[in-house]
Amino acid sequence: MERFAGKTVVITGGATGIGFAAAQLFASSGAHVVLAGRNSANGEAAQQALREKGGEHLFVQADVSKEEDVKRLMQQAAAHNGRIDILVNNAAMFYESDFLTETSEQWRRVFNVIADGAYLCTKYAAEVMVANGHPGAIVNISSINGYRALNKSSHYNAAKGALDQLTRCTALELAPYGIRVNGVAPGFIDTGLSVIGGVNELETEDFLHYYIGQRKIPLARAGLPQEIATIIAFLASEESSYIQGATIPADGGLSITF
Ligand SMILES: NC(=O)c1ccc[n+]([C@@H]2O[C@H](COP(=O)([O-])OP(=O)(O)OC[C@H]3O[C@@H](n4cnc5c(N)ncnc54)[C@H](O)[C@@H]3O)[C@@H](O)[C@H]2O)c1
Repeated sequence: MERFAGKTVVITGGATGIGFAAAQLFASSGAHVVLAGRNSANGEAAQQALREKGGEHLFVQADVSKEEDVKRLMQQAAAHNGRIDILVNNAAMFYESDFLTETSEQWRRVFNVIADGAYLCTKYAAEVMVANGHPGAIVNISSINGYRALNKSSHYNAAKGALDQLTRCTALELAPYGIRVNGVAPGFIDTGLSVIGGVNELETEDFLHYYIGQRKIPLARAGLPQEIATIIAFLASEESSYIQGATIPADGGLSITF
């Protein structure tokens, strides 16, 4: 029997990067995947790509920072196959900014997507899981920025730190309902999020010299979205049945160094 046969998996920001790699892995293991995102062109293309490989998959246009969108997303996801088994809180935004010149609106926007978005999705997905009597798993995509300070990104670092604490708190509060909540904290992964201001940071001289050449990343390379997807699938599966409230780093060793 396939690993996720008959399971419904909701992945926010699932049309691109790490989210889409996870969507492909779940779909190829028998799951019904519900992709959620703001951009309908990306979402419909991703839905089509999944359907071509077989299975019933859905794209729902939703902004995770908007409560009405999230309620509708979880209603549609539950209606799709009668249940929600797995939620992957993956949606995020990133841009560089100086702490002193950034506006409070810009700061709040990052928090709204990363921290509030994960809160809203967790709340409404968990309500469905509890009401339907199907215990489930929630996987939060954090970052090593959640516990390390990177320059020009205090909004993102602080929001990911809040997400890690949400992982622990919901792991505690939802455990009595059979819901497991865990996280993954990637380091540098080769996705669209690595392109900042039109420049792919993984191709800059600074990155190649410091992180690769000097082995600031001990494994001396950026990660691939598929290498995060396999951890997401592990945390969503019964193989991790005794892991609760943990956030697993996946950064080629970057965060063990100083
Ligand atoms: N790429 C990296 O180096 C890296 C490192 C650490 C953590 N991460 C985390 O991995 C996750 C996936 O990022 P990625 O690298 O695949 O980049 P990505 O840009 O491909 O993925 C982010 C997705 O979130 C979506 N999104 C943004 N705002 C949204 C909103 N309000 N509502 C719904 N969807 C929204 C985007 O459209 C996009 O599809 C993110 O949580 C990111 O913080 C990435």
